[in-house]
Amino acid sequence: MLDLSKAVLRPLVAGLALATLALVAVHAEDAKTADPSLANQLNPNDKTAEPDPKLLAKDAAVKVEDGKYADAEGHPTFRITDAGKKVDWYTYSGYRRYHAECHVCHGPDGMGSTYAPGLKDSLKYLSYEEFVGIIAGGKQDVNASSQKVMPAFGDNKNVMCYVDDIYVYLKARAAGAWGRTRPGDKEDKPEAARKQEKECLGG
Ligand code: HEC
Repeated sequence: MLDLSKAVLRPLVAGLALATLALVAVHAEDAKTADPSLANQLNPNDKTAEPDPKLLAKDAAVKVEDGKYADAEGHPTFRITDAGKKVDWYTYSGYRRYHAECHVCHGPDGMGSTYAPGLKDSLKYLSYEEFVGIIAGGKQDVNASSQKVMPAFGDNKNVMCYVDDIYVYLKARAAGAWGRTRPGDKEDKPEAARKQEKECLGG
């Protein structure tokens, strides 16, 4: 009789082995220096930025697709050029969205307030998935001494359509790649950002 369980399992195991290999390959990539043309150029005179070499290495862009940069794990990341004066589009957009939707509780420039934590610190350890999950679902710390509520933004398109933008801006703040200043010079808005925005807001 045909042993079905084995017939089904074998390709699965092979697939798993391949997936493991792919993971190893990604880790080997980590060790290599990223494409020098994608490297961040920080502003040495910006005393409001506190560069964290470890995070800067981890968040380094290794890939770009239509103006959107990604780190070795494939998560969105920032890119600063022109000796620390120019940001990629998404970091700029994230700065604006953050200051429209989040700063009332989390303070200007992600610095925190008496009510809500400084996101420039939270983003040192929160993963991309955790970040998106908290924005969509909210978070509460309600006990006898405090009543702190992070609202769920899952239904708010002005936040959810720009969650990657806010993430990369706060990552740049957490790694100390960008200080407490408003971005001036920026990369042009990519066509992909226009398209994604239209689909997300309209749909
Ligand atoms: C009404 C006030 C308020 C607004 C607006 C708000 N938050 Fe929060 N947020 C909080 C509070 C309070 C907490 C802490 C909750 C807790 O301790 O469980 C929090 C926690 C978080 C955390 C988890 C931080 C950590 O260290 O665990 C993230 C991430 C976050 N907020 C992101 C955002 C973003 C991004 C926005 C804007 C889209 C935003 N928040 C808007 C009040 C707010």
